[in-house]
Amino acid sequence: MIEQALVSVEDLAFVAALRNSTYMYPLVNAGHIFGVSMLVGGIVPLDLRLLGLWRHYPVMMFVDVLRVTSAMGLGLAVVCGALLFATAAVDYAGSLLFQGKIALVVLGVSNALILGRVLKRLGIRSLPMKSRMPPFLRAGAALSLVVWISVLILGRLLGYF
Ligand code: HEM
Repeated sequence: MIEQALVSVEDLAFVAALRNSTYMYPLVNAGHIFGVSMLVGGIVPLDLRLLGLWRHYPVMMFVDVLRVTSAMGLGLAVVCGALLFATAAVDYAGSLLFQGKIALVVLGVSNALILGRVLKRLGIRSLPMKSRMPPFLRAGAALSLVVWISVLILGRLLGYF
């Protein structure tokens, strides 16, 4: 039943065209990488600030700017990633690496949403600028770094296994 649905996805006309296209597939792949770079390029400095680096800059300066660029990057990575997935849906769905990657994306997004709520609840804008972040926030930032870097590694490995 699920396999049938995945085969129908692979057989969609625009998916078949993408799979066989000389230029479109690499372009969508480049879109995926651009999204990934915006996501990881935003998340890493944000997490490092929460972990205690650059304490002379207000934490909300990082949060306000980088959560927007990270969310835009995630959106682009998800859309382009879904298109790449569609071109070989049966194989990707059966791959443990792909399943692990998607599970980690879900974990990373949930963690980011929780961190955002905690930052809001704590009224972080009113914390003295150089103070250490509470342990819960630092743990969330460390988890975020590990999760997103693992997603990146699993994504790259997918091309080889
Ligand atoms: C739901 C979201 C996502 C989906 C459905 C998805 C799907 C895919 C697919 C199908 C590929 C092609 C693998 C291959 O070469 O055979 C890929 C590549 C890749 N993905 Fe994702 N991805 C998603 C999100 C992400 C995120 C958030 C990251 C990084 C944080 C990421 C990092 C990568 C990397 C580094 C590659 C290798 C690209 C290359 O070497 O050309 N992906 N992804």
